[in-house]
Amino acid sequence: REKELAKLWQANVLARDFFHACLTKTSYGKPAREYLARRGISDEMITAFKLGFAPQAWDKLSTAFTERGIEAKVMLKAGLAVERTSGSGVFDRFRNRIIFPICDLRGRVAGFGGRVMDDSQPKYLNTPETPIFNKRNMLFGFDSAHKVIRQTGKAVVVEGYMDVITARIFGINNTVASLGTAFTVEQAKQLMRYTDEFIFAYDSDAAGQMATMRALAIVRNLGAAVKVISIPDGKDPDEFIAKHGAAAFQTLIDEAAPLLDYQVRQALQEIDYSNLEGKVAVVARVVPALAEADNAVEVNAYIARISQSLGIDESAIRSEVGKFLAQS
Ligand code: GTP
Ligand code: MN
Ligand code: MN
Ligand code: MN
Ligand code: MN
Repeated sequence: REKELAKLWQANVLARDFFHACLTKTSYGKPAREYLARRGISDEMITAFKLGFAPQAWDKLSTAFTERGIEAKVMLKAGLAVERTSGSGVFDRFRNRIIFPICDLRGRVAGFGGRVMDDSQPKYLNTPETPIFNKRNMLFGFDSAHKVIRQTGKAVVVEGYMDVITARIFGINNTVASLGTAFTVEQAKQLMRYTDEFIFAYDSDAAGQMATMRALAIVRNLGAAVKVISIPDGKDPDEFIAKHGAAAFQTLIDEAAPLLDYQVRQALQEIDYSNLEGKVAVVARVVPALAEADNAVEVNAYIARISQSLGIDESAIRSEVGKFLAQS
């Protein structure tokens, strides 16, 4: 069993080196190098994250691995190869994609993410669940960010690989990605070994906003402080930083809004409260957050703000909060 796991780790390191060499040392890696250059990813980052390229072929990796004496069953188990449905043998899972190695805290390569270089779908492909790759536990960039997270006392959580790398280019080093929008309890617990302050900087699209709400609930339940950045211009940190620079993003981090502020702002932004129905909807939306918040001064300030925006009595909002508390 131990031996079997060791083989998987070993296969992944070899795969990482294989993909990295394909990106940096081959002629067919040129389009991938150009793609990364267009996205502003420097050679320094390619080296730091050991980014790679999976060639456009069915069996480049499997053939290279077979030549090195790695059995097909190991490639399958590591998620690097897929079984052929007709005939026998295996083919490469990752083909014609930019490769992002995903490491555990100790820097061991647990799995990979692969991005297409055009608009084809799926945009990203991950290593499937394997004995050493449990997606719920993984945070991209954690191995190189955890020390800085401890030093700064803050973890900035973003959605994607590109967000982490772009932040890194500009010296923002306490950023990790949840590998998509689904932030998990397991990821939160791992981060909490290093900090109790989380700043979410998810994409500003609908999926990102929904995910932010869910993530906030998870982190709050674990007792950590949460703040939220809503990216004002551009849809995610990677675009924002490219457009406005790191200093602007650092300012967003420093001025990140507390949870309640974010929720109130969201509700006022999303709901048309020009009529009575809208006013009722806004109040219904913010009441749970107000009821949950434990700082009375803060709560009072928000109630005042909502009452002003909506043009309704503060006491009406207070009584809704009271009702909510009585029910729960
Ligand atoms: P890039 O800037 O090129 O990464 O594109 P984007 O900002 O539009 O990416 P998006 O916000 O859609 O994705 C954020 C993260 O979610 C990615 O880095 C992946 O980890 C994950 N993700 C996105 N799309 C997929 C997908 O189709 N499959 C899987 N498995 N993960 C995805
Ligand atoms: Mn997407
Ligand atoms: Mn997104
Ligand atoms: Mn994005
Ligand atoms: Mn992006």
